[in-house]
Amino acid sequence: MEKKQIKAFFVNGSPRKKWNTAKMLESAMKGAQEAGAECEMVNLYDIDFKGCKSCFACKLKNSKTNGVCALKDDLRPVLERMREADVIVLGSPVYYSYPTGEMRSFIERLCFPVGTYLYEDGKHITLRDKVIPTAMIFTMNCPEDYMKVVGYPPILEENTKVLADIFGYSETLYACNTYQFSDYSRYDFNLFSEEDKRKYRDEHFDTDLKNAYELGKRLVMKVN
Ligand SMILES: Cc1cc2nc3c(=O)[nH]c(=O)nc-3n(C[C@H](O)[C@H](O)[C@H](O)COP(=O)(O)O)c2cc1C
Repeated sequence: MEKKQIKAFFVNGSPRKKWNTAKMLESAMKGAQEAGAECEMVNLYDIDFKGCKSCFACKLKNSKTNGVCALKDDLRPVLERMREADVIVLGSPVYYSYPTGEMRSFIERLCFPVGTYLYEDGKHITLRDKVIPTAMIFTMNCPEDYMKVVGYPPILEENTKVLADIFGYSETLYACNTYQFSDYSRYDFNLFSEEDKRKYRDEHFDTDLKNAYELGKRLVMKVN
């Protein structure tokens, strides 16, 4: 029997399509392609959509909307394509300790229809018919040690936990101390030095990208 083509989706929750989060996702996508997946990248800020409106059509008994999001907006075709996903990777900058608002709205729309209010044998029932390896990639201005001091990991990993609950498997990857502007001389700042930022980027960002590449490859290789 012919082997089914593995499909991997990459979702960029940054408004910037060429910066840190996008680069991390592109690298993860290369890893996934290397492992044989057909890949698609989606930029959330290109899509006109809102978060879950709590209509509960996705929970309605004996309805064709049960298990799917009934909202008719530009995210609908994306969610329809993503129902074919074997691997899902979400990337977001950290905005005030959380993923961006667009990414949060997207997670609501992606996860709520697949999750249920049903429990069996102490387990939460989800409507997926297989484990879908997922991951979240977070990029942020703050350095790694400070990220731990301010307590970002438990906050950010709440999102990854939702993905693990709904899709059966999830990982988290961080890229810290990101370089934010193409020309620091044009902006007001004295919290950090451009030189330190550049040095850190030159010494670390390639490793972050490599970690993202390995993540993409690893998730595809987990698909049965
Ligand atoms: C509105 C806003 C809020 C931000 N809040 C935080 C924050 O709470 N912590 C942090 O480390 N970085 C914060 N940042 C910085 C971004 O997370 C960081 O620059 C990120 O790498 C940007 O991703 P991008 O280059 O893909 O757009 C913020 C940036 C913006 C624009």
